[in-house]
Amino acid sequence: MDTDWESHYLEGHTPWDKGEASPPLRDLLTRWSEEGADKRQRVLVPGCGTGHDVRAIARAWPEAEVIGLDLSPTALAAARKVPATGGKDDYLEGDLFTLAPEDLPGGKLVDLVWEHTCFCAIEPSMRAAYVRAVAGLLVPGGGLWGVFYLDPYDDEHQPGAGPPHGTSVGELHDHFVDRFEILDEWSPPHTYPGREGREWVMRLRLSG
Ligand SMILES: C[S@@+](CC[C@H](N)C(=O)[O-])C[C@H]1O[C@@H](n2cnc3c(N)ncnc32)[C@H](O)[C@@H]1O
Repeated sequence: MDTDWESHYLEGHTPWDKGEASPPLRDLLTRWSEEGADKRQRVLVPGCGTGHDVRAIARAWPEAEVIGLDLSPTALAAARKVPATGGKDDYLEGDLFTLAPEDLPGGKLVDLVWEHTCFCAIEPSMRAAYVRAVAGLLVPGGGLWGVFYLDPYDDEHQPGAGPPHGTSVGELHDHFVDRFEILDEWSPPHTYPGREGREWVMRLRLSG
């Protein structure tokens, strides 16, 4: 059954929202700076919720154009209320599965997609569609970098009763291998409390 994300935000039941950007993203932003990455990128953050990751990227990369996408108008209203970052952050209400490049601000493809808790939020039957959707929004050779929640299960969340829906490194490879090349991947040393050893970072490049 489809999750009513808007109701979660309206009712203030958003246990995934930790009030700050994902720790693996914060580590990656430091690493990208050390590597001298080109920061003038167009970045899409699907399922951005209230925008913590959007703002972290926009703050670290003031020349980047960072677009947060979400289904929930209430989440995006909360995101827009946060004072400006000094960078270029923007929010778009829409569905990743039906979004066309023309719907994006500027009507252009993006250079990079940052994934965090969108992949685990969708029904597992939609994962192939997720790969197609992300690939269809990226420029040739564009990047999909993300932190994937492998094991979200606890007393409250059981396998088969998500979201969140868990996965495995092998399943991630199987999903992405046809469209993306794996650049590198690792178990993140810093996570939100309680997610230690349960997440997996991947940097992928659109092939072909
Ligand atoms: C578990 S929440 C994570 C939000 C945010 N990434 C965070 O960690 O705070 C999943 C988010 O994905 C959004 N979402 C789910 N399916 C979506 C879709 N098809 N297109 C765009 N957003 C979607 C939901 O509205 C929700 O805000």
